[in-house]
Parts: sequence; structure tokens; C-alpha cells
Amino acid sequence: MIRQSTASAPGKVILSGEHFVVHGSYSVAAAISKRVSVSIREIRGTKSQIVSTGVTSDLDSDDGRFPAVKTVARTILSEARKEAPRITFQISISSEIPPGSGLGSSSAVSVASAAALMDFLGLSWNKAEIANFALRGEKAVHGNPSGIDIQASLLGGMILFKKGQEPRSISVRDPFKVLVVYSGKKRSTSKLIVKVAQRKSKYPNTFQRLADSASEISLEIVEASRRSELHEIGKYFGLAQSQLAWIGVSNPTLETLIEYLYEREEVLGAKLTGAGGGGSVIAAIRQDSAEAVLKFMTGRYPYSFVSEIPQEGLRWKKRKN
Ligand code: MEV
Repeated sequence: MIRQSTASAPGKVILSGEHFVVHGSYSVAAAISKRVSVSIREIRGTKSQIVSTGVTSDLDSDDGRFPAVKTVARTILSEARKEAPRITFQISISSEIPPGSGLGSSSAVSVASAAALMDFLGLSWNKAEIANFALRGEKAVHGNPSGIDIQASLLGGMILFKKGQEPRSISVRDPFKVLVVYSGKKRSTSKLIVKVAQRKSKYPNTFQRLADSASEISLEIVEASRRSELHEIGKYFGLAQSQLAWIGVSNPTLETLIEYLYEREEVLGAKLTGAGGGGSVIAAIRQDSAEAVLKFMTGRYPYSFVSEIPQEGLRWKKRKN
């Protein structure tokens, strides 16, 4: 039987504290219902490959394709060279998350690839090792990430995250639905992280006040989520959005989208989620009218969906061979 391993990991939404988390604030993230699947199988030949949606690239080629997966795979192979069997393989990726949409596609692909490859090579692993390898992949794409996206995808559920501390899992009494709307505008997380750092060095005191209040908002959102208080969550989304606009990561595309959402009385609050500059918006909504709001949004923004949060994190199947 051909050696084969499979793993999948979810995308994420950030409920509060994006960007400020890079500078030490608390941030809250949750796994969503859209996932990335990675499957690895042994192939003939001398070159391992990566393939997704009809595009193929050799693992050792520097053609700029699949930077996260290549970094993860090359790191694992170089660090585990002695123990790993010398076999040629193909990594196939199938994703439900548009790249550049702010929904954690590069973290999900990094987490799933790291787990699938460790399993494929017969190497034992734990979650901390997967997080380490996956973060290398994420850095290849995002420059200086905080690590929150990786942890949300790996652990699943809802997490309270602060750099340098173990992420805390938040137990949510009644999972709740959120609306996620992709603006259709791709953006670069690494450039936005640099832009925020520049703003911080220009206005250090104002930035610090906003970072402190981003932490407070995160802690309030944790409490409101624990009790599924959607009105409270919506109110804090609105506050978080004004802070994000001040640090320069919102833009007219996102603001038009948010205004459009607020046309519906079922929308309790909305904010950009992830790096901003485009990407996606998340909205707290009245739970009984999620489908109606979704239909309204889909007419104008085709990649919209409702996700119940929180969702399961990394899933993998034990290798067949
Ligand atoms: C991106 O999902 C969240 C940012 O805060 C970057 C990071 O924390 O790695 C913008």
C-alpha cells in the first residue's frame, strides 16, 4: 500500500486585538468552519512536489509558489534528516479559504502541512512542535506575525492570546454564529504590520493607550463570549473598529462594507478581522436571523458565510502504509 498522510486545519477570525497583539496586547481569536486539507503521498521520481488547484511546484524550486508549505517542509526535512526515511512525496492542498482574505489561510496550510508531514515521515510530534514549524511557514508569508493565527488554527476553539504566554482556551457555554464577509480585496499582512509599527513610532503615547484599551476590549469580549451575549460582543466590535481605523488598517472598501452591514437591524456590531487593508469583516448578528443577513450580503459580496464559533482545530488521520 502507498504511504499516505492527511491533516486539516481551520481558518480563523480575530474578534479583537489584531495588530495590537504584535505589540503585546491581549487578543481573541476563534477557529471557523472553513478549512484547509493537506494530503501527502509517496510518488516515484527524485523530486518532491506541491500541488494545488492545478498548479505544481517542486519542493526545492524557488519560484515563489507555496512559500509557507515549502518553508514548513524544508525545515522539517532539514531538522529531521537523520530520522526521516528518504522518500519522494507529493503534498496536495485543497482550501476553502481564499488567500489574502484575512481568514488565516497561510496559518491553516502551515499547521496542516506540518502535522501531515511529521506523520508521513513517521516522526513523533506534539502541538508545540507543530506550532514551531507552522510559525516558520507563517513568517515566510507574513514577516513578523505574533503567532495568534497559528494557535487558533492548531488548538481550535476560542483563545485569549498574548505574546510570550501560553494561549488560554475560552470555554463558550453556547457556541454562536457570526457573519463573515470577504471584501474581495486582497492585502499583504506583512506590509500592514510594518505600517502599524511606523504609526506606533510616530505617536508612541497614543498608540500605547489604544493598545491598553485593545487589551481591555479583548477581556470584555472573552466574558461576553463565555455567556454568548451577542449585544455586548457587537458593541465591542464597534469600539475595536474605531481603534483599527485610527492605526490606519481600515480603508474605504471596508468602511463601505461595514456601513452596508449596519443597514440591517439584525447586525449588532461589525469590525474588520485580521490584518485589514482589505480582507474580511466579522459581524455579531441576531442569532435567529443569520440566514436573512447572509442572503442580503451575498448579493453584493459573494464570499460571505455564517460560521458557528468556536470550531475544532487540527484534525489528522494516522498514516496508512
Ligand atoms: C493577522 O491575522 C493578525 C495580525 O495581528 C498579525 C499577527 O498577529 O500575526 C495583524
